[in-house]
Amino acid sequence: MAHMSLSIRLASTQPALVNTPLLALLVPQNPSVSGELAAIDSATNGAIERSLTRRDFRGARDETMLFVGGDSGAQRVLLVGLGSAAPSRTTVRRAAAIAARQAVKLGTGGMHLYTADTNIDAIEGMAIGAAAGCWSYKDLQTPAPEKDRRAELTHVTILAKESSEFLAALAVGIATAEGQGVAKRLGQMPANVCTPDMFLEVGREIAERHGMTLTSLDRADMTRERMGAFLAVAQGTPQEPRLVVLEHRGGPTDQKPIVLIGKGLCFDTGGISIKPAPEMEWMKFDMMGAAGVMGAMETIGRLKLPINVVGMIGSTTNMLSGTAFKPGDVVRASNGKTIEVVNTDAEGRMVLADLLVFAKRFNPDVVIDAATLTGAIVIGLGHTAVGVFGAERELVDEVLVAGERAGERGWPLPIWDEYKEQIKSDVADVKQTGGRAAGSITAALFLNEFVDGYPWVHLDVAGTAYSQTDLGWIPKGPTGTPVGTFVEFVRARAQSR
Ligand code: BES
Ligand code: ZN
Ligand code: ZN
Repeated sequence: MAHMSLSIRLASTQPALVNTPLLALLVPQNPSVSGELAAIDSATNGAIERSLTRRDFRGARDETMLFVGGDSGAQRVLLVGLGSAAPSRTTVRRAAAIAARQAVKLGTGGMHLYTADTNIDAIEGMAIGAAAGCWSYKDLQTPAPEKDRRAELTHVTILAKESSEFLAALAVGIATAEGQGVAKRLGQMPANVCTPDMFLEVGREIAERHGMTLTSLDRADMTRERMGAFLAVAQGTPQEPRLVVLEHRGGPTDQKPIVLIGKGLCFDTGGISIKPAPEMEWMKFDMMGAAGVMGAMETIGRLKLPINVVGMIGSTTNMLSGTAFKPGDVVRASNGKTIEVVNTDAEGRMVLADLLVFAKRFNPDVVIDAATLTGAIVIGLGHTAVGVFGAERELVDEVLVAGERAGERGWPLPIWDEYKEQIKSDVADVKQTGGRAAGSITAALFLNEFVDGYPWVHLDVAGTAYSQTDLGWIPKGPTGTPVGTFVEFVRARAQSR
């Protein structure tokens, strides 16, 4: 597994005194030329002041302006606007990512980052943003000839005092970035590279490095466990399906674990209910829930969080073949419930059904699953909010707070009994889909049929885990969601104990 080639450190030097190929200053809306900006301006012979006076640069969100300095000191100065919103972990992350992308474009190799009023959130945000801004997956591309290559961004220095709390914040930022790197890497891999076996391999590697226990179930094991729902999806592919469990035991032996579950469809053709050809290639991203779990376990392991966490993923590929499951089939999940299959494209909920039943074995304190589950969530919430579903308001709120901190905002949707009518079946205990109306809600209610006696929240990340457009601060591709939400939820729980 490739790790970040970027190293990030803190230094308490005055921004005006650093010797750096690129000094990036993250500045709020309508900055005034005083204090640090004025001190730095000597490196640019007063150009910063002139452009602020002319109102060329106003500090709007995502706004940038690059100044050329001399051969020493700040050799380039980049202003990045933070915008008018109150500075937060998320706004700083965004600006730091934009700075890092600029550094990559220029090929500066290194960068110093500075923002006034630095606090713990800003340090975390700068570290996560810097890493996000220079993230890429190039394994499958032939590199340009040496002479045409620009230097990679390999070292970032955040200008802040090296206090113990800031160093701890830096460690959180780096660990989060590494976890997101794991998830994004898996998400960017094509389905012929990111297979269920790859999830097993990555899981094994994470477990080894962090002293976690790894358990995995293959097709034969799942058959013994009577996981008829998961197996129905997997019966159309010759690839071995994998259920992978990672156990991080950072808390007392008798402490009930937080269980994180992820949908890991390495590719979703829709099966016999085949998807239209245009844009089907995006369905390699249908494993971002599982990638999110792997990424979160990486972060949790790095931070050695003093709490018990179980990460569980179900991975397969939804294919068409002579052995594939069909609309109308009735299958039995591992809790004994029968499911009437309506549409083989609603495969994620079938995989998750058996995982939710399996989770019960770990005597969970709480279970959170993440899945690129429905196209309907994209219609409802677009590419901005994660759909958050759960019966317990307090727990839903706790997840929403974690998502907010992580810069992966969610929004709650109801799972009232009234909607259950839609998934009643004439031939089985439950119908797999509930029609077009409230598609994300009926999907969540289907999952709820397999939740037994533990608090549970479901995250639908179909609109947010992968971006088809360049978002400015990150390129198109996997966004890192839901790694941050998982991590912030677990961190908050670990702190409150
Ligand atoms: N992986 C898809 C969900 C999806 C669709 C994500 C489009 C992003 C964009 C999921 O397995 C699926 O196909 N769901 C169906 C369910 C339907 C058949 C009830 C959907 O949303 O269309
Ligand atoms: Zn599908
Ligand atoms: Zn799917």
